[in-house]
Amino acid sequence: MTTERSTFLLDETQIPTQWYNVVPDLPEPPPPPLHPGTHEPVGPDDLAPLFPMALIEQEVSTEQYVDIPGGVLDVYRIWRPSPLVRARRLERLLDTPAKIFFKYEGVSPAGSHKPNTAVPQAWYNHQEGVTRLTTETGAGQWGTSLAFATAQYGMDCEVWQVRSSYDQKPARRTMMEIYGATLHASPSELTEAGRTILAEHPDSPGSLGIAISEAVEAALQRDDTRYALGSVLNHVLLHQTVIGEEALLQMQQAEATPDVIVGCTGGGSNFGGLSFPFIREKLAGRMDPVIRCVEPAAAPSLTRGEYRYDFGDAIGMTPLMKMHTLGHGFIPDPIHAGGLRYHGMAPLVSHVYELGLAEAESIGQLECFEAALMFARTQGIVPAPEPTHAIAAAIREARRCKETGESKTILTALCGHGHLDMASYESYLTGRMQDLDFPEEQLTAALAAVPTL
Ligand SMILES: Cc1ncc(COP(=O)(O)O)c(C=O)c1O
Repeated sequence: MTTERSTFLLDETQIPTQWYNVVPDLPEPPPPPLHPGTHEPVGPDDLAPLFPMALIEQEVSTEQYVDIPGGVLDVYRIWRPSPLVRARRLERLLDTPAKIFFKYEGVSPAGSHKPNTAVPQAWYNHQEGVTRLTTETGAGQWGTSLAFATAQYGMDCEVWQVRSSYDQKPARRTMMEIYGATLHASPSELTEAGRTILAEHPDSPGSLGIAISEAVEAALQRDDTRYALGSVLNHVLLHQTVIGEEALLQMQQAEATPDVIVGCTGGGSNFGGLSFPFIREKLAGRMDPVIRCVEPAAAPSLTRGEYRYDFGDAIGMTPLMKMHTLGHGFIPDPIHAGGLRYHGMAPLVSHVYELGLAEAESIGQLECFEAALMFARTQGIVPAPEPTHAIAAAIREARRCKETGESKTILTALCGHGHLDMASYESYLTGRMQDLDFPEEQLTAALAAVPTL
């Protein structure tokens, strides 16, 4: 019989009742979003056609904590608190003195961390009388999450799914339809933005930036409709802090303090959600973990992009945000981690990175899938393609520990399972998956199109 404890669970009563806002704790505030026409900071009225007022207030909030409404907690209780697991079997395979912990968000109905923000976004819209939400989805995880969340409050949901993902992941489409959502492959003929892209690139694989343009345009056309974004914005990262707050309690249970925190970054929401409460602890001097973003080599916004004002979408309809960007026109290769194929990084994650509170590395998809197989064959869970980047980074760190003999404590978020990503695994297992060269010329061209302020 083994007495080693591996899973750290919280009681339902320990679901956080407040989200944590890192902004007031940072040594300087993040630069504000700017109006694309005037280049002045955007005000609530500029955002009101897209978002409900409660979310706009959260977007600019300088309060350290925001209460989670009861109507949101009721839905969180379906799957929260989520487990924290010590990956002892993976540690043994790696023969490392490191301790690897992962916070598992794949237990949510959609199979990822995305419902942590989809539910409050749907709830606040519903409270303000909105009956229909539009959105984009890359991996399909976010679209599924919003479809699930809108179903909780009897709202309609319309999703523009990036073409490459729409073709690769028919099961995600079906899942969104089960929850009652309407799906379109993006670029689509339904919007001006989609038609513009298709006229130039009839075979466009799409991108998150293009799908955002379409969903935003569709939301602006009707009074009963607003838009919901699955990552990037401050209020999204705020909602995701339930991950880190729970993980802090669970690490205490495990009597462990992280030396290294790694998280995959597409738009930055699971990373921010996990790491911001730990950044609070770090800034308060209670611990000192190294905090590392892990991005795909095909969309390396932090490690190869520039820190400057750019649009959040491909066409240039959103406010300008100061962020690490590859250029809003950059279309990353159709790698399997569809949720990481975004040209920008959350302004708040970019800011934290600029302040030196986080570092970054990029990893190619072959190393990620190799790591995923090691993880699945030891811990049993098949990861979504996005968090395979976090696992690969955790394995790199654990291997370094083996070389140096250090027994560091590594914490990561396994932010989703890959049950609907079998085509990606099949491509890896049959040797068809490749690491693609990063197109430097395309990056230079895309950065040249970023507005100069
Ligand atoms: C499972 C999963 N992980 C990660 C991401 C990347 O988003 P973020 O960086 O906001 O966590 C996505 C996005 O779709 C996703 O579906």
